[in-house]
Amino acid sequence: MPETDLLSLQIDHVGILQSRYEQILDDHGYDGLLISSGSAPIRYGDDQSWQFQGYGPFLHWTGLTGFEHAWLLIRKGQKPLLSLYQPVDFWHASLELEQEPWLAEFEVRFSESRLAPELAGLSQLAVIGDPCLLADLPGRKNSGALCDALDETRVHKTAYEIACLAQANRLAMAGHHAARDAFLAGASEFEVNLAYQRATLQREADAPYHSIIGVNEHAGTLHYQYYDTVAPARSRSLLIDAGVRFRGYCSDITRTTAGVGEGRFGALVQGLEQLQLRLCDMVAPGVDYLDIHRKTHLGIAALLSAAGLVSGLSDDEMVSEGVTQAFFPHGIGHFLGVQVHDVAGKRVQPPADAPFLRLVRTLEPGMVVTIEPGLYFIPSLLEPLLSGSLGSHINRSLVGELRGCGGIRIEDNVVVTDSGRRNLTREAEA
Ligand code: GLY
Ligand code: MN
Ligand code: MN
Repeated sequence: MPETDLLSLQIDHVGILQSRYEQILDDHGYDGLLISSGSAPIRYGDDQSWQFQGYGPFLHWTGLTGFEHAWLLIRKGQKPLLSLYQPVDFWHASLELEQEPWLAEFEVRFSESRLAPELAGLSQLAVIGDPCLLADLPGRKNSGALCDALDETRVHKTAYEIACLAQANRLAMAGHHAARDAFLAGASEFEVNLAYQRATLQREADAPYHSIIGVNEHAGTLHYQYYDTVAPARSRSLLIDAGVRFRGYCSDITRTTAGVGEGRFGALVQGLEQLQLRLCDMVAPGVDYLDIHRKTHLGIAALLSAAGLVSGLSDDEMVSEGVTQAFFPHGIGHFLGVQVHDVAGKRVQPPADAPFLRLVRTLEPGMVVTIEPGLYFIPSLLEPLLSGSLGSHINRSLVGELRGCGGIRIEDNVVVTDSGRRNLTREAEA
């Protein structure tokens, strides 16, 4: 999409947010809402701060991930007031605000103070943000009912948001291709990470989440968080779960690559990919996301049978007896937006058979979800299965062989459209 189209979509986006917010302020009896962008806390006992990425509602309006101590004031019938902290500081640089058309929709001020802007004339003020930064402010702070309503404004993405998410997918796919090539050339986890960062031009601290890069057994730790600097003697598998932020919006993509000569594991990767594509094709308005999660378990059961990992149990039995849960312990996915696990997915708690599912809703046009089935060889989950009453149904030697490959996850980002879906990740891959 040409930049000018994106910039004009952003102006529509701001207008849509203004009307959504005005309605909510009316419904909840407020005449103004002050949003803090946040700030990075200082590490305890140290003079260094954690990395800053910005508070969701502030990002939803502005896309500005790096501006600490900024404030946004929303009022009915008035332009949003955006106050950006720009101290005179010879230790640090101030972020430059790119002069783009959306800024004309705001009243923009620069302040040398971290304090909130003047709030005169507001009698019913609401304030949201990190409570540490709100202590001295007037108004009702972080009202649960208000925050729930505001979270709901992030569920149905505007055309601008979908364009940003699509671009975040394109940028990340370039990184995933570079990561795969580096792995196949013998790179270590650390070097795979460098290849990803180089291709995405994104420093680690700016990524939407810590990239998960697991070679061999490490692929079986769901959120593996370290990088070996030396490649193993035999590189059998790579799982990389990594995204990019574009104008605040996140991609969240996982790919798994079998090492050279890993035919059996490679076949399992292909099988899971076929399942993953079928699950993506289920995404459509009116579909209960929980049904996609439950279909995943049946698909994993079929795959376990076909691969010879489990025998003598029907697919339904494998699901009801918890066999599939041991191989696929997490949820099928979540909402995606300015946060990787975007808000408002769990207005009700997930049922007992899907304890880690982050999204328990019926799909509607404009929602953006991930579809991320996995199949892992996790010793702490498989040992009880192997030593329990169903142990004789599990192919112990095959599990032993594949354990060294860790596991598989394949994750795409999918938009629910009026008639079905758009798979932003596969579009970016093509
Ligand atoms: N990258 C974390 C997740 O897929 O949810
Ligand atoms: Mn992911
Ligand atoms: Mn995800």
